[in-house]
Amino acid sequence: MPSATLKREIHILLKLYPVFRRYLKDRKRAKENDEWDYEIQRNGELAVKAFMDLGPTFIKLGQVLSARPDLMPKEYLAAFRKLQDQVDPDPFPLVKQIIERNLGKIDQVFDEFDENAISGASLGQVYRATYKGRLVVVKVNRFNIEDRLKSDLIAIRRLLKHAKGRIENFLYLSIENVIMDFNKRIFDEIDYRKEVSNMNLIRSNLHEDDRVIIPQVIEGLSSKEVLVMEYISGTKIDNVQILKEKNIDTKELALRVDTVFMRMLLKDTIFHADPHPGNISVADDGSIILYDFGMVGFINDDLRFKLLLLYDGLLNKDSDEIIDALLSLGALSPAANRGIVKRGIDMAIANFYGRTPEDLEIRELLDVANDVIFQFPFRLPRALVLYMRMSSLLEGVCQQLDPDFKFIRVLQKLLYDEGLIQTLYKKRLTNFLDDTLISLEKAVQLVPLLKRKLEYEEEPIKRKDYKIPASIFLGFLLLSFFQMEKIHPITSSILIAIDAILFIYIIIKK
Ligand SMILES: Nc1ncnc2c1ncn2[C@@H]1O[C@H](COP(=O)(O)OP(=O)(O)O)[C@@H](O)[C@H]1O
Ligand SMILES: [Mg+2]
Repeated sequence: MPSATLKREIHILLKLYPVFRRYLKDRKRAKENDEWDYEIQRNGELAVKAFMDLGPTFIKLGQVLSARPDLMPKEYLAAFRKLQDQVDPDPFPLVKQIIERNLGKIDQVFDEFDENAISGASLGQVYRATYKGRLVVVKVNRFNIEDRLKSDLIAIRRLLKHAKGRIENFLYLSIENVIMDFNKRIFDEIDYRKEVSNMNLIRSNLHEDDRVIIPQVIEGLSSKEVLVMEYISGTKIDNVQILKEKNIDTKELALRVDTVFMRMLLKDTIFHADPHPGNISVADDGSIILYDFGMVGFINDDLRFKLLLLYDGLLNKDSDEIIDALLSLGALSPAANRGIVKRGIDMAIANFYGRTPEDLEIRELLDVANDVIFQFPFRLPRALVLYMRMSSLLEGVCQQLDPDFKFIRVLQKLLYDEGLIQTLYKKRLTNFLDDTLISLEKAVQLVPLLKRKLEYEEEPIKRKDYKIPASIFLGFLLLSFFQMEKIHPITSSILIAIDAILFIYIIIKK
């Protein structure tokens, strides 16, 4: 192993070992006690600091973990949600290398290029330039980012292997699952060709809404490591004061922002999963400008239907429906004890204190859901994690614009206005019919089985007769398979002899 990789692995180990030890203790404690615990909160903050210090891979991983209530106590979730993806840009000579190996000499390609980045995040940084007289934005990968991600991920996986057998198996599998998912997805985020295709897809899906702007990519000038698009200036959506000074109706804006994102989720196949305030601006005429299409979720009708069922279950406070939806989403292990999970969900619903879910905010609802998810063997599928992340970010944005904003009410209105609930029920009916047909089929299959079973029951005495010798026979057989090399040869010969006699006895008796 090259020494640089080993050094990095040791560095990661030293940073994360104490974090992980504290986490294991906190996890146990949080499962026993529901109250907010300030010591756990402090440990969560220390964990975030370690993740920040470890650089881009861990900053991104930390963001992923902030949406994993199946793994983290609420105090950790809160700390990880505050993890900011702001990093100083790389020194310009390094950035220049990447731009030039992708596009050619900067001074030949661009009329002007401002070397002061307008933003720096863990995976890339963004510059302003002029191209053929047009103002553009140039998004550039961080230096060596692919290699850094790859070697960090190798180190993480190696370290995780050491944890195998030392931690609860379910926890090990869940962490492994998060890492595998991260590994599969993170390389898409640094491949700007993917981002371009996401942008084009979402732009065409939203084309009917002329108050949403998605920057046009400069054709032929974008590559895997560099993305060039038109510059579209606006006011950041959380700059409420300036928006008001510009005479923009922020209440109406909140509604429109919410509708745009929910429409992607409820009607299209792809949704922007990262609506934090840095990625949304508002043009002077009130149009919504969307940036940053690196993190997107894909959704199809089947998945949408399951999510809607979950929502329907929550709205009706129907814990059985909630459990069915979670099972169908693959979020809840079918091996989980339904009765216990149901009790947990019922208790969580009772915590709504008589309020109807429509009066609750998504954040509250998610907090309740998070608590339940943390208590039970949940394994959240990616689409659900992205959906939860998206809704809580979106709610934050909308509530800043309008403190009275009721996310769930809007969602409800949208569902009825756009006829989605009707579709849901129609699908439900078809599903019910399908299920009934399957049950009928099963019943038909069951008849011969039942017949055989009844015939079998008619001969109980015979069965009893050879049950004991058969068990001993099987026991010896298994023993000989797995333990023979450990048994003395004479003993094993005797065992084989007994086994043979038993075998003959069973045959004769039958
Ligand atoms: N086309 C654009 N026009 C104007 N500003 C942009 C444009 N694209 C990005 N920006 C600005 O740059 C910031 C970072 O870009 P973004 O695509 O979000 O990169 P990152 O993935 O690093 O967060 C955005 O928050 C936005 O302020
Ligand atoms: Mg961004």
